[in-house]
Amino acid sequence: MQRIFSGIQPSGIPQLGNYLGAVRNWVALQDSHECLYCVVDLHAITVWQDPAALAQQTRELAASLLACGIDPKGHILFNQSAVHAHLRLAWIFNCVARMGWLNRMTQFKEKAGKDRENVSTGLFTYPNLMAADILVYHATRVPVGDDQRQHLELANDIAQKFNRDYGVDFFPNIEPMIMGPAARVMSLRDGTKKMSKSDPSEQSRINLTDGADEIALKIRRAKTDPEPLPSEVEGLDGRPEARNLTGIYAALTDTDHAGVLREHGGKGFGDFKKALTDLLVAKLGPISEETRRLLADPGTIESVLRDGARRAEALATPIVEEAERLVGFLKV
Ligand code: AMP
Ligand code: TRP
Repeated sequence: MQRIFSGIQPSGIPQLGNYLGAVRNWVALQDSHECLYCVVDLHAITVWQDPAALAQQTRELAASLLACGIDPKGHILFNQSAVHAHLRLAWIFNCVARMGWLNRMTQFKEKAGKDRENVSTGLFTYPNLMAADILVYHATRVPVGDDQRQHLELANDIAQKFNRDYGVDFFPNIEPMIMGPAARVMSLRDGTKKMSKSDPSEQSRINLTDGADEIALKIRRAKTDPEPLPSEVEGLDGRPEARNLTGIYAALTDTDHAGVLREHGGKGFGDFKKALTDLLVAKLGPISEETRRLLADPGTIESVLRDGARRAEALATPIVEEAERLVGFLKV
């Protein structure tokens, strides 16, 4: 059975895009793979995080992942900082990766913007830690959004250079599992911007903790245009908000844009938004209820994470120790 690793940052309450673009797939992959899912708190502090908020967001994200159906007994759920093997391998990878490789990373360029001199060095070496996250388990498959593709290519470059430099065949090739473009959920306020948990506008996203009333209000206020829904997919061209709402509907009903338009083409947004609200409430209601139930008992969440970290550590330690031996560290 192939081993899967994926990570998600505890940088806020997960939103509908995280669910449809990532977590829902993570849940499905549990049937056919051995899975490790990680709340990447080490990555989160590459930009400033308020300490109390970070701890709480780690609990919230874990609760939300459990509520979505991540199985912490059959698989492994843990927070990154609890397994030190990631850091030990990340240091070695800091010494394998080249400045030029990291300089090409588009996520770094976007996040650093014009203020390159003032961002943390952790933000620059972020992809090395991400490579270590995966390779410290010899995981071979990584489900992520399209935005992470370049980081996975870099991880393979690091693995190959390590193997070449030390004359071994130690780290395996990683196969990205890029989740389809249908799963790219856009902001409810601007159909050309990605829905994000860090968008300053609450109205731009559906959080996985939103109740029925909040969902209804956000969908009612979601930006649209005055035309009714088209009957053909081509009619969505140049209408990003219409495309986004029908895309969300399609993802939640396991169909595509054409399927949604066959059913709803010709309707005005008033009617369609009602149908979409009912669907979202039916699908997300149980998740947000379960998230809130779990959050009422932080001790249980923490013991789930502790158990996951212990089992992750047992898998990672022999691999990082072998990497250290190959590098030539004296074991005393
Ligand atoms: P992040 O919230 O940036 O840590 O992303 C965690 C995971 O959710 C990654 O695999 C992203 O690609 C995915 N993701 C985040 N936002 C969206 C979105 N608006 N649509 C689809 N997938 C998303
Ligand atoms: N960089 C990823 C993101 O922002 C999160 C992440 C960290 C990750 N380590 C990982 C994803 C390892 C996959 C595998 O979405």
